[in-house]
Amino acid sequence: MDQRKAPIYEALEELKSMRLVPFDVPGHKRGKGNKELTDFLGERCMTVDVNSMKLLDNLCHPISVIREAEELAAEAFGAAHAFFMVGGTTSSVQAMILSVLKAKDKIIMPRNVHRSAINALVLCGAIPVYINPQTNEQLGISLGMTVADVKAAILANPDAKAVFVNNPTYYGICSNLKEITKLAHEHGMKVLVDEAHGTHFYFGENMPVSAMAAGADFASASMHKSGGSLTQSSFLLCGKDVNANYVRQVINLTQTTSGSYLLLSSLDLSRRNLSQNGREIFEKVTMLAEYAREEINQIGDYYAYSRELINGDSIYDFDVTKLSVNTLGIGLAGIEVYNLLRDEYEIQIEFGDLGNLLAYISVGDTKKNIERLIGALSEIRRRYYLDKGRSGKGELQSHEYINPVVACSPQEAFYADKTSLTLEESIGGICCEFVMCYPPGIPILAPGEKITREIIDYITYSKEKGSSLTGPEDMEITRLNVMKGVR
Ligand SMILES: Cc1ncc(COP(=O)(O)O)c(C=O)c1O
Repeated sequence: MDQRKAPIYEALEELKSMRLVPFDVPGHKRGKGNKELTDFLGERCMTVDVNSMKLLDNLCHPISVIREAEELAAEAFGAAHAFFMVGGTTSSVQAMILSVLKAKDKIIMPRNVHRSAINALVLCGAIPVYINPQTNEQLGISLGMTVADVKAAILANPDAKAVFVNNPTYYGICSNLKEITKLAHEHGMKVLVDEAHGTHFYFGENMPVSAMAAGADFASASMHKSGGSLTQSSFLLCGKDVNANYVRQVINLTQTTSGSYLLLSSLDLSRRNLSQNGREIFEKVTMLAEYAREEINQIGDYYAYSRELINGDSIYDFDVTKLSVNTLGIGLAGIEVYNLLRDEYEIQIEFGDLGNLLAYISVGDTKKNIERLIGALSEIRRRYYLDKGRSGKGELQSHEYINPVVACSPQEAFYADKTSLTLEESIGGICCEFVMCYPPGIPILAPGEKITREIIDYITYSKEKGSSLTGPEDMEITRLNVMKGVR
């Protein structure tokens, strides 16, 4: 196929030249009916905010330009089929889970999954069999799954339908995806891969293996993260043994019938760009990230980690485009440095947790921006560590992973009769809701899990340090919904 083509974008260009009189939605009628919004977003943007029509195909049942764009995307990613998704990578993750699992089916997954994966289990009633990812105690991050742990889970649960893998984790850590895929397939299980942070694996050189290259059945690729498309756009990729027409039916259970052409054309153009220029783009990104790492490590007391962590198993590979920095050495939690950077240096970082920061480096960055970040980090170390004599790690907790005790399925707990208790009172109960720091959106507690003293201490500590906690019905996170009468 000709990867220089972008059928959705080309059809929108044609539409513009046609000057059709719109008696269809959206009601702003190419922006004319909402001057304020048009002034804000620009006429060019509003004129392509249109609905499905003959020329533009239909996302729910693509037969022309969207179908062609899907085929181009599939080829570019080495997939048998690609779906254009407009509900974020959340919708991609949920579609792959709902395509493979139904109520009471088991899925083997690491516990450090994004909330979208466990949300899907609430929706379909499947049962998670968690593999506890290994943890790097010094950094306070959870790692990948070891092949031995996956094998043990498969052998203990031969009836499981699927294995779910993060490729990579938010921090850039990859499991041995090829070997895990082989193992799962040998036992008749599908392999579902969350590649929210791995779109560039398909286009850059010397990157960790991508899900499609590893032979996985599904991958959810956040084009809007490292792929450069608009926020909320994503690709769901399918391998050769997947019935794509059934997957489409599953997607259509929850997907809008008014897919945004802003999002669709951004996916189309970004795929074209990556297929043409991806190698150079990610070479530049890698170079910037490597430079930043070197300079940050020279400041002292920070640790910007990389491939030296690779151990052949729980850290099988590392995504060098991720700039993950451990901050505990300067006596500040990652979230504290995150807040200082934003409040005092006008630098917005992707996220900070208790021990680490993640700066997202992309094609949009320049060396000048990187220098600014390095300068700010250096100054923060001087002000808060050297001048104030903070004594390094001190009493800081870096713990990012707590072994969950799963008492029942996420669906059972989510829909159970519940009672609202204070954090202290809730200890010993079964949680009916999620609690997580966002980002990264990995649940500290998920529905169906036992609430322990350790978890409540962790939540309290995260709140004290300024983490943004989300999930519970009580937005202040002072109370939790627990299953009524169950201890
Ligand atoms: C690992 C992972 N999976 C899935 C998602 C969901 O992506 P989106 O925000 O596009 O719905 C995220 C979002 O940050 C993520 O980090």
